[in-house]
Amino acid sequence: MNILLLGSGGRESAFAWKLAQSPKCKQLFIAPGNAGTSQYGENVNIKATDFEAIGRFALDNAVDLVLVGPEEPLVKGIHDFFLADEQLKNIPVIGPQRQGAQLEGSKDFSKEFMFRQHIPTAASRTFTRQTLQEGFEYLATQSLPIVLKADGLAAGKGVLICASLQQAQQELIEMLTEAKFGDASSKVVIEQFLQGIELSVFVLSDGENYKVLPEAKDYKRIGEGDTGLNTGGMGSVSPVRFADAAFMQKVTDRVIIPTVEGLKKENIPYKGFIFIGLMNCDGEPYVIEYNCRMGDPETESVILRIESDLVDLLLGVAEGNLNERELIISNKTAATVVCVAGGYPGEYLKNKVITGTENVRESHVFHAGTSIQDEHVITTGGRVLAISTLQDNLFDALQQATADASRIYYDGMYFRKDIGFDLL
Ligand code: AMP
Ligand code: GLY
Repeated sequence: MNILLLGSGGRESAFAWKLAQSPKCKQLFIAPGNAGTSQYGENVNIKATDFEAIGRFALDNAVDLVLVGPEEPLVKGIHDFFLADEQLKNIPVIGPQRQGAQLEGSKDFSKEFMFRQHIPTAASRTFTRQTLQEGFEYLATQSLPIVLKADGLAAGKGVLICASLQQAQQELIEMLTEAKFGDASSKVVIEQFLQGIELSVFVLSDGENYKVLPEAKDYKRIGEGDTGLNTGGMGSVSPVRFADAAFMQKVTDRVIIPTVEGLKKENIPYKGFIFIGLMNCDGEPYVIEYNCRMGDPETESVILRIESDLVDLLLGVAEGNLNERELIISNKTAATVVCVAGGYPGEYLKNKVITGTENVRESHVFHAGTSIQDEHVITTGGRVLAISTLQDNLFDALQQATADASRIYYDGMYFRKDIGFDLL
């Protein structure tokens, strides 16, 4: 079959690598892809949000399945766009329709969903410009630190953890009345702060049945020892040692089943990945957020532990018989180290020539922010490459990924050398 993968990051490189190995995959297209994805399929110069062009391409190229990598096309309704078109509606799209994508597209929606379904999450209330005064009154009753979240998509920047009441009040004003995050902060969720260790749990659902994919831990801060500014993610590991059988049973019973069943009860169709950002608070799972897609850089680690054919699993989602498909997970350990551009996550260097990838020994080099110019591979994004490896144990995986990252060079290159060491 012909598969069209949408997106251009490290997550999509890892997906492309895996999809291309399937005997069921005849042709793989990646729109728009990056310098690395062209090793696994054909890059197509169409943006993942240009629905008209994607639809035309899918028809012209006999595409049999569309896998959506990032959240933006889902929240904007790419799946609905396909369903509304006579010719496109028979091409399955992996990724929820607009309504299901609200789990990520609106924090208020996802909190209300969790409250209705009794899914453990931090206490919260939502405020608008009209209820600013009530927001102040609510803030005054809360303990510190307190978390403020822009309701809509804010490119990972919409969450503020405020140490003082004064800071929280100021931020609330800026978000609601000065559009600090544009339209995304026209509603603000004020949420209790959760103390604990985070992990990412991934579920693949066909709307009726589900499979739990390998869990992962993501390292978000730019600096070693988890210091400095937040980034899109500097590395990941899978499995996560504290997510043992007992903990994962709690996650399944209290979060995963109520989520899948809750979507069904509320008549929200959902065919795709559900990314559950969890806080482990003294052994008890609380949901921090949902995303309607896989994580990045978690996917680069998770994908290495999936031994089964990913295309077969996606067909199970499309056909609604995921329960009949096999998911085999490796018990080895995967680690990913992300190489970023100098200056990232602030203003960063671009168009630097990348060398040395041919010296990488055992790891996969999943491209993220790269493109090809005059036969050179150059940096174009903040997160440039994800170096991922699967080894017998965490120590070996971390050593291999870090050593292989060191074999690569571009002007300004930086990566964290302590990914996963807190779990050793
Ligand atoms: P989000 O955009 O919802 O993933 O939030 C970004 C990050 O903020 C999360 O990965 C957490 O590290 C942190 N965070 C969000 N909500 C909370 C909370 N209620 N308590 C503590 N940390 C939080
Ligand atoms: N790694 C976090 C995310 O993909 O949102």
